[in-house]
Amino acid sequence: LENGLARTPPMGWMTWQRFRCVTDCKNFPDECISEKLIRDMADRMAEDGYLEAGYEYIIVDDCWLAMKRDENKRLQPDPERFPSGIRALADYVHSKGLKFGIYEDYGTLTCGGYPGSIDHLELDAQTFAEWTVDYLKLDGCYADIKLMDDGYPLMGHYLNKTNRQIVYSCSWPAYQEGTIQPNYTKIAEYCNLWRNYDDIDDHFGSLNDIIQWFASKQDNLSLVHGPGAWNDPDMLLIGNYGLSDGQSKAQMAIWSIMAAPLIMSNDLRTIKKWHSNILLNKNLISINQDRLGLMGKRILEINYIQIWSKTLVNDIVAFVFYNPLPYGTPRYISVPLKQLGLDKKDAYNFYETFSGDLIGKFNRTDFINIKVDPSGSVFACWAEPTKLASEPKTKST
Ligand code: DGJ
Repeated sequence: LENGLARTPPMGWMTWQRFRCVTDCKNFPDECISEKLIRDMADRMAEDGYLEAGYEYIIVDDCWLAMKRDENKRLQPDPERFPSGIRALADYVHSKGLKFGIYEDYGTLTCGGYPGSIDHLELDAQTFAEWTVDYLKLDGCYADIKLMDDGYPLMGHYLNKTNRQIVYSCSWPAYQEGTIQPNYTKIAEYCNLWRNYDDIDDHFGSLNDIIQWFASKQDNLSLVHGPGAWNDPDMLLIGNYGLSDGQSKAQMAIWSIMAAPLIMSNDLRTIKKWHSNILLNKNLISINQDRLGLMGKRILEINYIQIWSKTLVNDIVAFVFYNPLPYGTPRYISVPLKQLGLDKKDAYNFYETFSGDLIGKFNRTDFINIKVDPSGSVFACWAEPTKLASEPKTKST
């Protein structure tokens, strides 16, 4: 969507994956979907380096609404969990230098059973703009998937009419996939990002399933992917219960190479240092945020190692070597640079991505040896063009 927004993949934090629809604030005041939760996370994002690293949107997902609209048919938040109202919450988020996002559903109800937007699209767009919302995630439960091709653009039209700059995240294709072929050209014209596939859950099986699905559709999906328009494989699980160190690094590396939105969903109040280090890694973030906005692809599979690559500015190429298999030992492969597509320049400097350390200088006819740990680990690196390792001697005068 050419609305000037999301020129690089959006980065932020969202309630859903970690906090779902916990609404019992009496007994679980720190974990329920409430204004306190959002304020707490906004504080952590602003003070613990996330905002500085680029994570700027904080998004309330499902279960923030009251069960009924007000007497003027306007949406209203649950009065007990959001006693100050959404405008005040957005003000607080803005005062921290962050942007505020909210969730609604195109259908009659949200997935959690709260009032949906379908009969009130224009009014809801106005309400969000009045509340100074900066990002809308519009889900697709309880809706006719055939109506979405017109309904989602219509909501986009109403958002645009408010004159407020609102990032528009659509779930339109995620509900159509598997039943009717989503029209991705149209989706990219009307949405800044869109969920394509199943919800992510907090375990490696779900993560790997999503990775394989995107790889299998990459040729189509990459055609519409770029500044202002992003395929969204769903939230980052990093910092929660289900992923190992290697798997956490794998998600961050693959999301970065896919130029996927980096939307965390975790508890930033209690997150461990080794998790936040992954989320805040500058090299991965800059690969993700590269201004060309190309969607990296899985280019090769050698000895069950899946090799992903993405071209960045200045002919730099980022790689991820991913080992999804559970067999106890690391896998070792020796890959000619030519097979990695690195045969256009004389030589390349390779850097390991997580540390930024120089691995070495390779001529284009060389091989690079790679070791990848098992069970969903990655080896990540990038290659920068350079001169030949041993320059041909020239005559000196
Ligand atoms: C389905 C979406 O895909 C999830 O990300 C989340 O928004 C839930 N609905 C909320 O009910």
